[in-house]
Amino acid sequence: MIRLDKFLCDANAGTRSEVKALLKRGRVTVDGHVVQKGEFKVSEGTNVVCLDGQPLAFAQKVYYLLNKPAGVVSATKDRREKTALDLLKGAPGRDLFLVGRLDKDTEGLLLVTNDGDLAHRLLAPDKHVDKTYRVLTRKEVTPDCCKRLEAGVDIGDEKPTRPAVAQKLAGTPNGLLLTIQEGRFHQVKRMLLAVGNEVVGLKRISMGPLVLEDSLPKGQWRPLTEKERKDLGV
Ligand code: URA
Repeated sequence: MIRLDKFLCDANAGTRSEVKALLKRGRVTVDGHVVQKGEFKVSEGTNVVCLDGQPLAFAQKVYYLLNKPAGVVSATKDRREKTALDLLKGAPGRDLFLVGRLDKDTEGLLLVTNDGDLAHRLLAPDKHVDKTYRVLTRKEVTPDCCKRLEAGVDIGDEKPTRPAVAQKLAGTPNGLLLTIQEGRFHQVKRMLLAVGNEVVGLKRISMGPLVLEDSLPKGQWRPLTEKERKDLGV
């Protein structure tokens, strides 16, 4: 759902002030009824919005998977730092934003889109979307450490972390795969500190049905596949 005035701007009906005037003059209809309030909500597939009787198209939704490198901030704009969105220069689509954040020194999967409904579905705490991180740690990962991470740990917030899945990483004593369903500030780093260890390298490798393949180089992006879009319901 988006606001009618935003929809009209996105559909190139005019600038914000021109759109305001169009609405005021009753030139815009939604499903055949004149609507004069810019805050009225419309959604694709449900509503037909017309200007002077002519239907307007909804802006195309786009979906990209980015392999964020370390050293880039998870922001759409930053005056000093290079942002994850800077890496998407040239990608078709308007009003792109990042679905969630990774720390500056964290690498890996970031979803970039202009679909606010999807972002809400993936980020809402009650949706419990799995996020898996490959974690390299300062000290050896013990079975006891995995058990504690899985049960939930006190990271200094009001509540302990929700149950997680923690598996030792094959091939190194100092690594694990950690799947969590929350997205608290510095969560993985704080969870490892809470069990007496420390994160020295962090990469997100999946979010919900999306999996970052090894073949996508750092700093590169690609559109989601048909299957990924279907799995996300978009
Ligand atoms: N947990 C963290 O500590 N940092 C991230 O970037 C993501 C999850």
